[in-house]
Amino acid sequence: MKKQILITGGAGFIGSHTADALTKKGYRIRILDNLLSAVHNNTWPEYVRGRGYELIKGDVRKKKDWVRALRGVSYVYHFAAYQDQRPDFSVFFTTNTVSTALLYEIIVEKKLPIKKVILASSQFVYGDGMYRCAHTGETFFPELRSVHALQKKSWEILCSHKAPAMPIPFREDQRVTPTNSYGLSKHALEEAALRLGKTYGIPTVLMRYSIVQGPRQSPRNLYSGALRIFCVQALTGKPITVYEDGKQKRDFVNIEDVVAANIVVLNNPKADFKVFNVGGGRGILVLDFAKLVKKITDSASPIIVSGFRRTDTRHAISNISKLEKLHWKPRFGPEKSIRDYIDWLRTFKTKKSFHIPKTFF
Ligand SMILES: NC(=O)c1ccc[n+]([C@@H]2O[C@H](COP(=O)([O-])OP(=O)(O)OC[C@H]3O[C@@H](n4cnc5c(N)ncnc54)[C@H](O)[C@@H]3O)[C@@H](O)[C@H]2O)c1
Repeated sequence: MKKQILITGGAGFIGSHTADALTKKGYRIRILDNLLSAVHNNTWPEYVRGRGYELIKGDVRKKKDWVRALRGVSYVYHFAAYQDQRPDFSVFFTTNTVSTALLYEIIVEKKLPIKKVILASSQFVYGDGMYRCAHTGETFFPELRSVHALQKKSWEILCSHKAPAMPIPFREDQRVTPTNSYGLSKHALEEAALRLGKTYGIPTVLMRYSIVQGPRQSPRNLYSGALRIFCVQALTGKPITVYEDGKQKRDFVNIEDVVAANIVVLNNPKADFKVFNVGGGRGILVLDFAKLVKKITDSASPIIVSGFRRTDTRHAISNISKLEKLHWKPRFGPEKSIRDYIDWLRTFKTKKSFHIPKTFF
């Protein structure tokens, strides 16, 4: 009998790709998703329909929906989440953190034979992370940059000598300093899952994804980030808008590498009760990424560098050596993510709403 896997948020980007890969490995897939309107417009996306998946429309904030979805399940991927930088702070905690507590509560209460729980956390838990002063070599954890500094276009994190400090790639064992409700709720989720998992003997793995890129990132979803925004801007002939001076570094990871990571930790007991960074392994300037999108789309759009977002971090790069020890490494760069995303956009049903010219499709 094939083992049953529950994927919450499985109608989404990472969950659906993970479902496809697990099916190929012989698992049965059940998806619990509330089809959040910001992502899906309340309908099951075509890429999960007709694939033999059991689809349950339900909410991870509701115990009864979890109970129904957990029946007969061996493994759980908990991916459903509230994302973005929004002011409804409490929704991050109810969706991301309370849902995690509910999951463990039901496993313990009903003595469910769950073999492993794998949860989506985020690079966002690090906030700005740790920096090194170029003068003394000392390390420090900076505060979020002030609005005043950002208005003055003082983008870099400064050390006590008022000189730009050097970012140190995030390591799983460093202190975390989330800068927004999303990061805070993910960190709380990690703590809850690890503590409850250890106490009740439920193998648990936390995945701190960097910025994941590839097809099925909902063009409706503002959280989908630079790939979605730049591609849609480039394809519609609108200016490609880059914040700050474009020299902030980001760590982009391709969805196929993320799926491979999700599978590596499933059957390897060495992953149990551990936290892993899942990133692309190198930092890329956001401006260079915008230029790459422009080149690949052959767009005439100008790149405009201006503006900033209050809670953006300056640089965000994860050290991935811990997961590499489990024989995983990223294989694909942003070029593939951009090309695959554009190919997928061509097939996207509601393309009209993005005013992408007909000639493109
Ligand atoms: N995509 C990234 O770059 C990235 C980076 C770091 C972490 N993550 C995390 O990975 C996970 C998957 O992200 P994604 O990019 O696939 O996002 P996504 O928005 O494509 O998918 C999330 C899914 O969760 C569902 N959902 C939201 N609230 C729900 C609720 N209350 N009950 C049930 N379902 C609900 C949505 O309908 C959606 O299908 C999330 O936990 C996210 O925080 C993603």
